[in-house]
Amino acid sequence: MYICVCKGITEEQLEKAIKPESKPSDVLKDLGVGDSCGICLLDAIERISKSNQTKVSKSKK
Ligand code: FES
Repeated sequence: MYICVCKGITEEQLEKAIKPESKPSDVLKDLGVGDSCGICLLDAIERISKSNQTKVSKSKK
């Protein structure tokens, strides 16, 4: 499923771009998510934040 229709970025592409140390703004900038209409921004930031929390907690185990 697309997370950003304007840039054609899928949830999978977003997930792959997220590293444990990634800031949401860096991931968005790297992929161009939110650069056009911006309607995807809140959902994308939420997904990046959740993914970061999951990846950080997994890396601490
Ligand atoms: S849907 Fe992402 S910028 Fe428009």
